[in-house]
Amino acid sequence: MTELDLKIKDEFPVLKNRNIVYLDNAATSQKPKSVIDAVKRYYEYDNANPMRGLYELSIDATKDYEKARQTVADFIHAKKKEEIVFTRNATESLNLIAYSYGMHFLRNGDEIIISIMEHHSNLLPWQIVAKNTGAVVKYLECNEEGEIFPEQLEKMMTKRTRMVCLTQISNLFGRENDIKAFAEVAHRHGAVFVCDGAQSVPHIPVDVQDLDVDFLAFSGHKMYGPMGIGALYGKEELLEQMPPFLYGGEMIEYVTRCGATYAQVPHKFEAGTVNAGGAVGLAEAISFINSYGFDIITQREDELTKLAFTEMQSIPHVEIIGSKDYKEHHGIITFVVEGVHPHDVATIFDAHHVAVRAGHHCVQPLHTHLHKMSTTRMSLGFYNNEEDVTAFLEVLKGLRKEMGYGE
Ligand code: ALA
Repeated sequence: MTELDLKIKDEFPVLKNRNIVYLDNAATSQKPKSVIDAVKRYYEYDNANPMRGLYELSIDATKDYEKARQTVADFIHAKKKEEIVFTRNATESLNLIAYSYGMHFLRNGDEIIISIMEHHSNLLPWQIVAKNTGAVVKYLECNEEGEIFPEQLEKMMTKRTRMVCLTQISNLFGRENDIKAFAEVAHRHGAVFVCDGAQSVPHIPVDVQDLDVDFLAFSGHKMYGPMGIGALYGKEELLEQMPPFLYGGEMIEYVTRCGATYAQVPHKFEAGTVNAGGAVGLAEAISFINSYGFDIITQREDELTKLAFTEMQSIPHVEIIGSKDYKEHHGIITFVVEGVHPHDVATIFDAHHVAVRAGHHCVQPLHTHLHKMSTTRMSLGFYNNEEDVTAFLEVLKGLRKEMGYGE
């Protein structure tokens, strides 16, 4: 192990406290000590209900919370912090757009275009919007390599297309979609563009202004932050037009017996007591990422992807899903082992203390499209190293034998 490997691993208590090679980072990442400490520090020194109290402790809690919002805004290059709404996770962010923008602005016969590779969180909310408004969900199909093309979208756009909602990095293929080009097509036809950044924001630099997306949804827990905190970026003019998603405390300006006026963006969308400790933890996770920088992070993840991918290609009876080029996988390699159910594959890995995910990975329509019931997925994080990948490959090489096959 290199000095950098040791230093990074050392920052993650779980990786020291448990005998595990953790390769399920697309599901959730582990948390560095700095993040755990920041959340602890918030509760030990600054905790009060933000934005309510006129006393110093509540004012400090509010400052922490709003500082975290600025950190998130800077991280994804939003124009201003008011364009960041704190949510529980990417799923809640996408539901917020669906319930607020979708339900309010879409009409019978309008069209929503998504791709067949979308995670259920960027699929089910649009099905519900369609059911309630009479809109139609149309699917951009991908090929076996997991590619979708802006030209394909161009052909699908009609006068009735109101929304295009695509993932930046697929949680099954690991492939990055050309979001800037897709957003340009959507906008040229007058549609709003929603980007699911759950799998991209932790791994590549994301600049919402450069991509020109109208909305970006992502989770804190996949980017070394705590569970229960996520964010929605939305262009200010769109957030301004949208009605609240949830109703209750602190999202109002004035309430009477008969109605209410609502607070300014983003508070209009943050009803009830907020997750200030989570926001502080997310800001610390961003500082952690920034302390290494994406040049180092992507280089490490790419090198490990290359190592795993190249070896996996030469293991008999292993089929990799998606691109034949490791560069298109961004730390995610989904595969099947001939004759072994993915649940058995994951169980055997677990017996060797290697954590991988098996099942449909919340992309069931994509599995149907690929004629697979389920698959197994290994997904890398920044703290993984060559030893982790070697341990994974050793298990994979002997897996069929453990199931009783000759080879
Ligand atoms: N969306 C997460 C995954 O892909 C949970 O595993």
